Amino acid sequence: MVYTPAQQRYETMEYRRCGNSGLKLPIISLGLWQNFGWKQSRENARDIIMTAFDRGITHFDLANNYGPPPGAAEETFGMILNSDLRPWRDELIISTKAGYLMWPGPYGDRGSRKYLLASLDQSLMRMGLEYVDIFYHHRMDPETPLEESMGALASAIQQGKALYVGLSNYDAPTTRRAVKILANMGIHCLIHQPRYNMLDRTIEPELLPTLEEEGVGCIPYVPLAQGLLTNRYLNDIPADSRAAGPSPTLSAERITPQLVQKLNALNAVAQERGQTLAQMALSWILKDNRITSALIGVSKPAQVIENVAVVGHIRFSDDELTRIDAILQAE
Ligand SMILES: NC(=O)c1ccc[n+]([C@@H]2O[C@H](COP(=O)([O-])OP(=O)(O)OC[C@H]3O[C@@H](n4cnc5c(N)ncnc54)[C@H](OP(=O)(O)O)[C@@H]3O)[C@@H](O)[C@H]2O)c1
Repeated sequence: MVYTPAQQRYETMEYRRCGNSGLKLPIISLGLWQNFGWKQSRENARDIIMTAFDRGITHFDLANNYGPPPGAAEETFGMILNSDLRPWRDELIISTKAGYLMWPGPYGDRGSRKYLLASLDQSLMRMGLEYVDIFYHHRMDPETPLEESMGALASAIQQGKALYVGLSNYDAPTTRRAVKILANMGIHCLIHQPRYNMLDRTIEPELLPTLEEEGVGCIPYVPLAQGLLTNRYLNDIPADSRAAGPSPTLSAERITPQLVQKLNALNAVAQERGQTLAQMALSWILKDNRITSALIGVSKPAQVIENVAVVGHIRFSDDELTRIDAILQAE
């Protein structure tokens, strides 16, 4: 059936300016790290993307290695783009990244100019795109001069293959240096993609203030701690969950009785706020205006619907924040 997007899609979403740039992103963005591989249902993947776009999610985040196998998520997304979303290309912000192992040999990993630009060409081919909106260096590479990696990002823009560039998993001092190197080439670093959620607050003391000072947007990944900060694991480990599946990224051993107790305590606060735990975890990230967007993953369209319902429910009372901090800090 021919897809026609929901007419009201932009009225139900909030958009935030990305750092000092002119680009706005939806406060909830969708990542395709998991659930978009070759073995996953193409129909479910399509439903997830359409459900997201219908609710004002304009930003879809990929990387060269998302799958499995690596490259599969970009291929799946390219097919959906071709069959359904192509007429709306100018309403989409599509990002991809390179930085992790993608092909054998010395040129398929890390941060050399050779790897980054070849990988971007491959990503464009897989998605059937002429350009991506954002191209990221996926991680720091201590073996490659930062000038070389940033030079490759600048070339991606100069060649018309990316509109903006970003950094992911960079620490604060290296971010500051990278932003300066890009600025010297006349390029503003649009965005940083770090790990951030209630259970991992590493970026709060140093990286977040750095991004604010440098005018760089922030789009935290795994805002739901891969599903821990949802109703998934409050009682047991459901058979269709990430922790029960073959994914090595979230092991069942991580779900200890102490963690389950903490999650249930957080869930009680969420319920008092009239939210699910997933909604409260997203609101908690987004209460800080330095955060441009929360980059979620989902395995079902219903999870998109639940998660976008945070729009308009982001504020916390001081008492709620104090109680949440106490729960998070308890041993
Ligand atoms: N830059 C990087 O290095 C990096 C690293 C990792 C991820 N990322 C990006 O971040 C994105 C998100 O990562 P993630 O998928 O781990 O993030 P996440 O949002 O923390 O976790 C997603 C998982 O949470 C569960 N979930 C989501 N909404 C739910 C709801 N309302 N109710 C119950 N469960 C819910 C689902 O688990 P089930 O599958 O169990 O249903 C879903 O697969 C990735 O797709 C990628 O774009 C970037």
